[in-house]
Amino acid sequence: MVKVAERRKIEDEIRNATEFMTLYRCALMEVETILKVLNEQFSRLEDYNPIETIKTRLKTPESIAEKMERRGLPFDFRLVKDEINDIAGVRVVCPFITDIYMLSERLLGREDIRLLEYKDYIKEPKKNGYRSVHLIVEVPIFLQEGKRMVKVEIQLRTIAMDFWASLDHRLSYKKEMDPAITQQLHEELIACSNESAKLDERMEAVRNAIDQRRKVRH
Ligand code: GTP
Ligand code: MG
Repeated sequence: MVKVAERRKIEDEIRNATEFMTLYRCALMEVETILKVLNEQFSRLEDYNPIETIKTRLKTPESIAEKMERRGLPFDFRLVKDEINDIAGVRVVCPFITDIYMLSERLLGREDIRLLEYKDYIKEPKKNGYRSVHLIVEVPIFLQEGKRMVKVEIQLRTIAMDFWASLDHRLSYKKEMDPAITQQLHEELIACSNESAKLDERMEAVRNAIDQRRKVRH
C-alpha cells in the first residue's frame, strides 16, 4: 500500500514539474529538427532521402514510475534525471542499413550533440532477434536561466527492423497465451529476424547495383 502511495506521489511530482517535462519536449524538437535538416541536405545534394520517418515520444509519468519500480529504484524525483535515459525518445526509420550508420556518424560529429551511450544491436542482435542502433545523447537546451543538457534516446532502424519490432512488441504484451504457443512464436520471430536481416542486405545490394549503373551511364 505504501508503495502505491509513493508511486502516485512521484507520478504527481513528475506531472507537476512542467519545466522539467518542457526541457525534454524541447530536446525532442531539437533532435527532430537536426534530423530533418540532414534529410533535406541529402535530398537536395544527392536526390535521396536517408530517413523514411521520424517518430518522437515523451515518456508518461506513469511509465517513468513503472520503470523506476522495475529497476528497483526508490521513488525519488531527484533520481529521475540521472537514472531514466529515455524520457525523450526519437525513432528514426531508414530505408537501408548504411543510412543508419551514416546518420549516426553525422549526428555524433556535431558539436552540440554529446554521446553518452552507443549500442549496436545490428552488429550484435539481441537473442530474441531485435535489431537497431541505440544512441543516448545529450543536447543543449537554452532557457532564460541558462543552458541545460538534456538526454534523448535515439533509435535508428530500417523499415524491416521496425516492422519486426512492432510484431515483437505485440507479442510481449500478450500475457494470456498458452506458454507453449508463446515460445513457438518467439522462435518464429527469431527466424523472421534472420530472414529480414538477409532481405535488408539483398535490397541494399540491389540499390547499390542500380546506383552504380546510373553513375556509369551519366
Ligand atoms: P529499457 O529496455 O528501456 O529498460 O533499457 P535498456 O537499458 O535495456 O535499453 P535498450 O537499449 O536495450 O532498449 C531500449 C528500448 O529499445 C526499449 O525501450 C524499446 O523501445 C527498444 N527495445 C529494446 N529491446 C527490444 C526488443 O527486444 N523488442 C522490441 N520490440 N523493442 C526493444
Ligand atoms: Mg531493454
